[in-house]
Amino acid sequence: MSKKIAVFRKEHFNAAHRIFNPSWDDKKNAAVFGKCSNPNYHGHNYELIVKVVGEPDPETGYVIDMKVLSVITREEVLEKFDHKNLNLDTTHFSDLIPTAENIVTVIYELLRKRIDPKLELQVRLYETERNFVEYPA
Ligand code: NI
Repeated sequence: MSKKIAVFRKEHFNAAHRIFNPSWDDKKNAAVFGKCSNPNYHGHNYELIVKVVGEPDPETGYVIDMKVLSVITREEVLEKFDHKNLNLDTTHFSDLIPTAENIVTVIYELLRKRIDPKLELQVRLYETERNFVEYPA
C-alpha cells in the first residue's frame, strides 16, 4: 500500500501589478477589471503555499528535504517576484495578464522544473485573505 505524504512550505512575497488587457482601451479595461486596472498599479501581500506529495525516501524519511524546498522556492519565486512590479520588472508577464490565476501557473512551472518528477506538486496562491487560487486544480 502506498504511503503518500503531503509536505507544505509557506512563503510570502509582496508585489505590484495592474490587471489589464493591452488589446482593450482604458475604458473597457476599467469596465471589466475595475480598480485592479488602475494605471498606476497596486500591491498585494501574496501568500504562497507549495505542496509536494510523495512517499518518504526509505533512507532519509523525507518526501523532500524542506531546506531544499525552501531554497528552490526562494530562488524561483521570491528572488524573481518579491518587491517587484510584475508587469514592468519581470519578463514572465510581458505577454500574460498577472492575475492570480496566471501568477500561480507561472510559479508552478518555475518550481516544477526544480522538483523531482516522481513527486506531485500543487501550488496555492493567496492574493488576499479571502481570494486564492490553486494549480493544478
Ligand atoms: Ni490586484
